[in-house]
Amino acid sequence: MTALPVLTIPPSPFDRPLPRVIQGGMGIAVSSWRLASAVARAGQLGVVSGTALDLVLARRLQDGDLDGAVRRALAAFPVPAFAQRVLRRYFRPGGRAPREPYAPVPRLALRQTRLAQELMVLGSFVEVWLAKEGHGGQVGINFLEKVQMATPSAAYGSMLAGVDYVVMGAGIPRDIPHLLDQLAEHETVDLPVDVSGAPAGHSVRLDPTNLLGADVLEADLAPLARPTFLAVVSAHALAAYLARDEHIRPDGFVVEGSPAGGHNAPPRGRLVLDDRGQPVFGPRDEADISKVAALGLPFWLAGSQGTPEALAAACAAGAAGVQVGTVFALAQESGLEPGLRADLLARLRAGTLEIRTDAFASPTGFPFKVAHVPGTLSDPEVLAARPRLCDLGYLRTPFQRETGAVGYRCPAEPVHVYERKGGDAADTVGRACLCNALAADVGLGQERADGYAERALLTLGTDIDGANRLAARHAGTWTARQALDWLLDAAA
Ligand SMILES: Cc1cc2nc3c(=O)[nH]c(=O)nc-3n(C[C@H](O)[C@H](O)[C@H](O)COP(=O)(O)O)c2cc1C
Repeated sequence: MTALPVLTIPPSPFDRPLPRVIQGGMGIAVSSWRLASAVARAGQLGVVSGTALDLVLARRLQDGDLDGAVRRALAAFPVPAFAQRVLRRYFRPGGRAPREPYAPVPRLALRQTRLAQELMVLGSFVEVWLAKEGHGGQVGINFLEKVQMATPSAAYGSMLAGVDYVVMGAGIPRDIPHLLDQLAEHETVDLPVDVSGAPAGHSVRLDPTNLLGADVLEADLAPLARPTFLAVVSAHALAAYLARDEHIRPDGFVVEGSPAGGHNAPPRGRLVLDDRGQPVFGPRDEADISKVAALGLPFWLAGSQGTPEALAAACAAGAAGVQVGTVFALAQESGLEPGLRADLLARLRAGTLEIRTDAFASPTGFPFKVAHVPGTLSDPEVLAARPRLCDLGYLRTPFQRETGAVGYRCPAEPVHVYERKGGDAADTVGRACLCNALAADVGLGQERADGYAERALLTLGTDIDGANRLAARHAGTWTARQALDWLLDAAA
């Protein structure tokens, strides 16, 4: 690979050269440790998805951890008792019996049990530890501000494994810089959590001393390296707001546009749909890159940036590089279930891959990119045939009940349950259970006791130019390194 000139911006927390390419965090586990490791080994920033890693850990263990990778990482965790408890609970040598449903994991809540926190800490520790194993490259983890209640334990687990970057999207991550500072010192954190209908003041707590044990912390654990924090923003105004105050200022930005895979920031103003039912984005939804550059913090462009020309243009506009998702989601090391990835690649090659922005599929209410693949929830009949059930709950939002107690609801749960919790039935229309569908995307889908197997729902960015050009260069699929060689060589 040809070396591009190295860019560093002093004074900054970036004591190592900035990556030209960030491989985007893609949940759940599409940005698996294998993908992030391949990218980091190639000298760029490999990012693991930090979403639902408790579930990923528990399900990989129930599937027998056939190559032993998960148990290898668990053996490296500083408190052996944690790993032993989780292994006793979830590990099935040889895997589950045919059609045996996966055992449940604790659902996210404001008050968290010890098991819930141990599992989340271990899940993110394992993913980052494996992504960093055997090389000196840099690894990041991606969190979603929308999944607030998981953040303290998932961040702490990733930091115990030495994560280099934390990247956070889908919201306004104003509390994360301070959270990372505190966790680096193993301090107790209280991360504010929005509770609908309640005044501010709710938070989720993580007390590392209580969790790991004072003896472990005092005897064995030095302060942790504080990871570099990048906020994913879609608007320059949000970047300016975050940059203004040193208490909430990130170390840099990923500026993501509406063609990006996964969730997108909603268009500004009143929602207008085009004739395919997609939200219409306009010029007001495009960040002014010169205003982001003027803030003086390093930034990367994302969304339709996965070509050498886009990388060169981003650098010319003052960016450190680009964050790319779609071409990595289709790469050999991606966590996508191989049959689904092959289906996407076949459609790509045939010129029939259709991706649309769905205004309603995601329970978050944010637009979500959906790849149309028969047999998945992208087919309205398959979606309608899924008996509604909310058994994972990562996207549930807390709300205040009339009694003052806190409840949790999700517009993809059964409609009568959602209404009973004060939700508006209109909000439930067209919603897909992303938690179960995204687990199915990576081969970890639930088979319910009644025999219903959860279906996938695939997401990719709408710009597939880069993927098409890689498909033309490589028979079958391409590796992450081949994608990087093409992006960086041609850009240089
Ligand atoms: C399959 C898939 C899943 C994604 N999941 C997430 C996610 O969990 N969190 C996030 O911040 N971004 C997510 N993204 C966005 C990527 O991190 C990246 O910013 C985006 O894909 C870049 O645009 P591109 O798809 O045009 O390359 C996802 C993208 C894809 C394709």
